[in-house]
Amino acid sequence: AQVAQADFIKSSVRTEDCPSDGLPEFALVGRSNVGKSSLLNTLVRRKKLALTSKKPGKTQCINHFKVNDSWYLVDLPGYGYASAPQELRKDWNKFTKDYFLSRSTLVSVFLLIDASIPAKKIDLEYASWLGQNQVPMTLIFTKCDKRKKKRNGGKRPEENVNEFQELIRGFFETAPPWIMTSGVTNQGRDEMLLHMAQLRNY
Ligand code: GTP
Ligand code: MG
Repeated sequence: AQVAQADFIKSSVRTEDCPSDGLPEFALVGRSNVGKSSLLNTLVRRKKLALTSKKPGKTQCINHFKVNDSWYLVDLPGYGYASAPQELRKDWNKFTKDYFLSRSTLVSVFLLIDASIPAKKIDLEYASWLGQNQVPMTLIFTKCDKRKKKRNGGKRPEENVNEFQELIRGFFETAPPWIMTSGVTNQGRDEMLLHMAQLRNY
């Protein structure tokens, strides 16, 4: 499972405007600053590809990146952007939720969770919504290279990862698959590519 080619295709503001070639896709979603762009760049080994994606809370775009001419990575705006006005946040919810529920080529939503800090309420709410709506998802823990810090709760990434899964257990009939990653050490890169290859071949 290697990436030979990756190209930015388009930014869409509505699900109906997304590419219609029927290729399978995986969407990256998570709080602002969780490491979505970094992860996308790590996966395709291109330092700046995801710079074309828009800042969360400001623009509302679904950004499609085509990989190996055969599938898409989709960068979505981050949620929980503190300075975004209430109205924008509502719009954001409506828009991404519509995408999750109606995009037929969406194979799995990758919910990114920062493993260097304790679980955040908004992440739990998000996981709960995806579970309730039976949207296929994979938990991607980011920043697993980070050492524990007192101000971040004093826990190791492994501990935060375990706690998060404990907290969301009740939201799912079957626990979602999960992968620990780092954009610094490339931890999880091969595992993610393999995971996506397996899901595409179902
Ligand atoms: P928005 O575009 O604002 O929604 O953020 P994002 O989710 O795209 O996060 P981005 O990739 O821009 O990363 C945010 C910050 O976290 C940057 O300073 C990154 O360098 C840092 N970061 C991202 N991934 C990792 C990681 O795996 N380890 C460490 N230590 N830092 C990371
Ligand atoms: Mg980003």
